[in-house]
Amino acid sequence: MMELLRLLVLGMALWATTAVADTNLDIPFPYNCSTKTTCSSLRLKLPNENEEFNAQLVNSSANNNSTLLFDLTNKRGNKLALSISAIEGKRFRVIVEEHDEHRYKLEHSLEKEPNLVKLTIVETSNISVTAQTESGSKIIVKTTPLSIEFYQDNALTSIFEGNRIIFEDTEESEAFTFSVQFPNANRLMGLHEHADNLKLRHTADFSIDPYRLRNTDYGTTEYSLNTTKSMYGSIPVIYGFGNKTSSGIFHHNAAEQWIDINNNRHSAYFMVDGGRLDLFVLLGPSLPETVRQYVDLTGKPHLPQLWALGYHQCRWAYNTTGDVMDTIGNFDTYDFPLDVLWLDIEYTSERKWFTWNASSFPDPVKLLNWVDAQGHRKLVPISDPHIKIDPAYKVYNDLLNGGWFVNNSDGLSPFVGECWPGNSSWVDYLNPEARDYYAQLHLYENFPSTSALGGYWNDMNEPTLFDNLYERTFPFDLVHHGGVKHRDVHNIYGMLQTMSTHKGLMTRDNGTLRPFILSRAYFAGSQRYANKWSGDNWGDFEDLRYSVPMALTSNLVGLPFYGADIPGFFGTATEELLVRWYQIGIWLPFFRAHAAQGSPRREPFRFGNKTQAILRKNMQLRYKHLPYWYTLFYENTVTGDPILRPLLYQYPEDPVGYDLDDEFLIGTDILTTSVYESNATSVRIYFPGQSDKWVLINGNSTHLYNGGTWANIPIDITFTPAFYRAGSIIPRKPRVLRSTADIKNDPLELHIVLDDHQKAKGRLYSDDFESFKYQNEKEYLYYSLAYDDATSTLTSSPIDTDNSPGNLTVQIDRVVIYTSDNADQMTVRKVEIDNTGKKLNTINFINSSIKL
Ligand code: GLC
Repeated sequence: MMELLRLLVLGMALWATTAVADTNLDIPFPYNCSTKTTCSSLRLKLPNENEEFNAQLVNSSANNNSTLLFDLTNKRGNKLALSISAIEGKRFRVIVEEHDEHRYKLEHSLEKEPNLVKLTIVETSNISVTAQTESGSKIIVKTTPLSIEFYQDNALTSIFEGNRIIFEDTEESEAFTFSVQFPNANRLMGLHEHADNLKLRHTADFSIDPYRLRNTDYGTTEYSLNTTKSMYGSIPVIYGFGNKTSSGIFHHNAAEQWIDINNNRHSAYFMVDGGRLDLFVLLGPSLPETVRQYVDLTGKPHLPQLWALGYHQCRWAYNTTGDVMDTIGNFDTYDFPLDVLWLDIEYTSERKWFTWNASSFPDPVKLLNWVDAQGHRKLVPISDPHIKIDPAYKVYNDLLNGGWFVNNSDGLSPFVGECWPGNSSWVDYLNPEARDYYAQLHLYENFPSTSALGGYWNDMNEPTLFDNLYERTFPFDLVHHGGVKHRDVHNIYGMLQTMSTHKGLMTRDNGTLRPFILSRAYFAGSQRYANKWSGDNWGDFEDLRYSVPMALTSNLVGLPFYGADIPGFFGTATEELLVRWYQIGIWLPFFRAHAAQGSPRREPFRFGNKTQAILRKNMQLRYKHLPYWYTLFYENTVTGDPILRPLLYQYPEDPVGYDLDDEFLIGTDILTTSVYESNATSVRIYFPGQSDKWVLINGNSTHLYNGGTWANIPIDITFTPAFYRAGSIIPRKPRVLRSTADIKNDPLELHIVLDDHQKAKGRLYSDDFESFKYQNEKEYLYYSLAYDDATSTLTSSPIDTDNSPGNLTVQIDRVVIYTSDNADQMTVRKVEIDNTGKKLNTINFINSSIKL
């Protein structure tokens, strides 16, 4: 019987292969609110008196006294269940659904079920119920009509506005709405991913569409900027930032959603296509605490291997073995650092993933060994979730026979659509068996390769198909494993692919190497598996400009390892723009150049000597700061703190910085901005922190600027200004060679920038740069550094007590001290620390104190 069913399914799949030719590529998309029912019908709908819900407490001791249960009813006779749970770490979880709980419960986004804490009722009356936790978190549930006020330490942080609840529950629609207000906020941020500014704009006057979260590919055109339109990824998190208190919410729901922002009253009205209303309320009260409260739910990334922080060269495509070898060879000939060369879709046989094109890549293992011999560099190939329909393709047959494709609405026959290989079916990553099968495809025996194949690039995983009818993605009635409708899981599909790829790499390398995966689509929690780039941008200054707030928002919502294609994927960037893009690209966590098919070759070595010299110097600056980057990446794995930071994150008391999202901080100690226009002769920048000072590190002088002031920094084409904060110690690599591997064991050079008290502080993290020993065996070095010029003493002391250095050492053989002699200039003094006895011996970086 099973066999018969399989044959039937196979027959249908082959039939569909021919039927799909009729695509709808001329239909314009993405659609706007007025053409999508969930948005158009719910945007203006205000529940009337008969529709508003009242709440009645029915259980005050659920889940071991951590959850209050209410019945919600309205005069129309509609009934819903509300549960409010107190969660460890100043958070609440609010769930609203029908009593039969038939809506899809999202899986995989949360790292684990959060720990509940005791929630004690302290007061009840006819109109409200007040309950609190032992850590000062409190709710007041107003019952008639429903609203929930959230307090931390008696300060009101947010209000769940019950009078905006609408629940549809018919064959056609499970859409619902709700609204949250942040009364103490003066700015809302989040709702990644949008090609927009850091601050969410006002949409509630209906002059523009609400922010839309529906993982979307834009196809053969670049995405538009300065817009609320959906993008490749979705993270339904909003932070309400206020000078005194900040707080936030995370909507744990992967269905499409539209969010109207009202900046007059700082509220967000969600219109959601399906799934359940499952809301985490984050009580702050500072922005950094709020960010941690969110990241703690969906998980922190593991450290990348060091090479992933180097320079990545991509184009569509390096077509042959010879092309790959020539390109890498030229990086050496022209003395440019390079860690990774990327393989776009043409390395395959007919775009069948996990195959090599036999004529252009006849001996991939030999090639990979060669790549490894050139400074332990890596290749990273693309691997998309669609699978070519080809009965001679083993992967296709295995998935078909396993029943591991996403099915049509009948739940039986695999859906067929078109993507790069032509007619394809899509792996159903919701199915654990499919995920396991897909994972083992990454093993060396299944895809001839070596560990020089450093990771994978999961693309087109929104998922994308070449048919505009459903906005280039699946119809929402397709059926996944367990009968789950695509509608309910659309935004998490891409994340599930990376989860499976991650498992594949862990298995391939026996858990010894940290997987590297780049993904275009993602959801809340993706950071546990993959990093992310901003997709198919365009080579102009506007795209460069928006890449910065996009990276900042990404960093605030738990996904720090983010970058944009340099110098714009589509179009032909001018040489000036290309230079400017590299100059900012070195300061974004993910540093990769890419180019669309057919665009002129534009690797750094293809330009004239002058441009080459500028690019080289800037790329070297990236490599020189690797110890600083690596320390920040480590700290992110522990705390979830962003690596890139908008000014308001670090300086919440300084209103001048609130709306600045064209300049940013890397950690706490480096400030930079970009040049966003052609022929610029100066850049205007604001220096944050009334008591801070900032020194220019890459211009013609080491000029010192006071915090709390604006300055026009004169520039030329050779540099985009970057600054160190006075009082910081920046660990650097003194020289740059072919790759990160070439310099990873080099001694360090500490840049010590003295503050007004002639002191400075920093931190330094180091490990083996590739394995999980730092997690499993706590084998790492992590030190705080302090320097006092009055006594010329440099001190290092361990930050953690339970780690072990194993055989690790870090050596420092030079210190560069920045001293301010007059009000606006610093002088730089180098102190070599060598073995000649003149100065101190080389410092082996253990707990020590030395006199310089
Ligand atoms: C998509 C990706 C792009 C890639 C291309 C071909 O457009 O966003 O980076 O080069 O597909 O694989």
